[in-house]
Amino acid sequence: MIKHDVVVIGGGLAGMRAAVEAAEGGADVAIVSKLHPVRSHSGAAQGGINAALGNREEDSPEAHTFDTVKGSDYLADQDATAAMCEDAPKQIIWLEHRGCIFSRVPDGRIAQRPFGGAGSPRTCYSADVTGLVILHTLWEQLERFGVKVYEEYFCTALAIEDGIGSGVVAYNMRNGELELIAAKATIFATGGAGRMYLKTTNGYASTADGQGIAYKAGIPMMDMEFMQFHPTTLKENGVLMTEGARGEGAYLLNSLGERFMFKYAPNKGELASRDVVSRAEWTEILEGRGVDGCVLLDMRHLGREKILERLPQIRELALDATGKDAINEPIPILPGAHYTMGGIETDKWGATRVPGVYAAGECACVSVHGANRLGGNSLLETIVFGARSAKHALDYIKTVSNVRESARTLQQEKDRIAGLLARTSGTRAPQLRRKMNATMSENAFIFRDAKGLAKAVDDLKAVRKEFDAGVYVMDKSPTFNTDLVGALETDFLIDSSLALAAGSLARTESRGAQARTDYPERDDANWLKHTLAWREADGSPRLDYSRAVTITKYDPQVRTY
Ligand code: FUM
Repeated sequence: MIKHDVVVIGGGLAGMRAAVEAAEGGADVAIVSKLHPVRSHSGAAQGGINAALGNREEDSPEAHTFDTVKGSDYLADQDATAAMCEDAPKQIIWLEHRGCIFSRVPDGRIAQRPFGGAGSPRTCYSADVTGLVILHTLWEQLERFGVKVYEEYFCTALAIEDGIGSGVVAYNMRNGELELIAAKATIFATGGAGRMYLKTTNGYASTADGQGIAYKAGIPMMDMEFMQFHPTTLKENGVLMTEGARGEGAYLLNSLGERFMFKYAPNKGELASRDVVSRAEWTEILEGRGVDGCVLLDMRHLGREKILERLPQIRELALDATGKDAINEPIPILPGAHYTMGGIETDKWGATRVPGVYAAGECACVSVHGANRLGGNSLLETIVFGARSAKHALDYIKTVSNVRESARTLQQEKDRIAGLLARTSGTRAPQLRRKMNATMSENAFIFRDAKGLAKAVDDLKAVRKEFDAGVYVMDKSPTFNTDLVGALETDFLIDSSLALAAGSLARTESRGAQARTDYPERDDANWLKHTLAWREADGSPRLDYSRAVTITKYDPQVRTY
């Protein structure tokens, strides 16, 4: 059996930041990851990371907090948001001192570009490969501290003994063995759930693993109905075209050649918050002013030099997928599933309701994004809450004398996986995933209503039932059994999808990314509250509204851009 003080599940930015903090604090820490850390989806983050660095008089952590709370449509917890925004400049300096190469302005300071919904240019960046640059910086730190990485280990279950988190069970993808990795503290940092949808900016690995594991173990998910649709993704493959393009001055055009955003957001135009821009684009498309089901992202006026200096990756990605060169022609784009704003419920230190279990980054709901996340706050969240959860865990493990060894959870997982592999017929997981993707993309997209959401809930319950009754894993091999891993991932995705659709159906208002055509107004009197989803035995979510939104300084106001 393997034992550590702290085990971090997931090797992306939140996971590595947590592991480095724990290692610097003297803990014996390990990462368990289904991917090599530098292949994690964090590497696809493009446009930047927000921090009020003090480079502009009008900017401050307080202004950042206000923009974030307003962006969240007042659903974010304001104490957690303030903690994130106050820590942001320190974390940027921490990264810089560890070798992170940020783009610079001529006087040597870190460059910052405007991003949507922000009152000041505060998004620090490395051209349009910011996530990748930070990822490599953290990987070097991991090596420096000698953090053990169990790579190509797929985590299947959380061990809880006497109500206390006691590590995880993980499937070694190289040899098919299930192993108990016992720990005093467990930090989930497994990323988002974009693969609930057909088209997403998310990598194939973004399959709600941490959310699904924690949820099955009795920890609630929070605010799952709030899925962010990024305004600029490629029609061909869902790949992200960074908001940094609009930050640098790119336009959005409809088929009439109009910069239509000023109709929807008179003050901010293309730099309104993402929910506003995505709805505007979709409205243009629905009302017949689209171009082949898209609108156009026009960067031509930025000029070759600026595009090659600041946006080289998206130019190449668009060129590869569409054959169009952004230097010379506009790129067709449309909104796509991008970021899971809900997730494992935590407090502002990343702690869940189960002692010894934490969550950080996209798999968590702290909550700092509420109903709509601002661009650039996602990378920030990974770094701030990766570090904070590890800090809390370092204190917590001092109170734990023994690592509990949950032989029970290991045996339960061995029996479960053996049962799955013993089946000789049934429905294949990819078929179920296609049904889930289809109903989510049709009925739980940008604009929603009761009829579509009720259909999504019914469809997903049927998928859940079919999965439980007899999902069939055809490949029986112990070595890199991607058929089995894909089925386990699908299991997690179904749970998250069901929580999203049920939460969205129940929430009879429009707020941030939840746009209900049958309830078009925000309803603070009834819905200024978080949604908690608890998993019932049959996989249905039980919704509970006992967690209030923490309001400190900013009373809800009408939100315009
Ligand atoms: O558009 C982007 O570069 C994405 C950034 C983010 O989601 O924070």
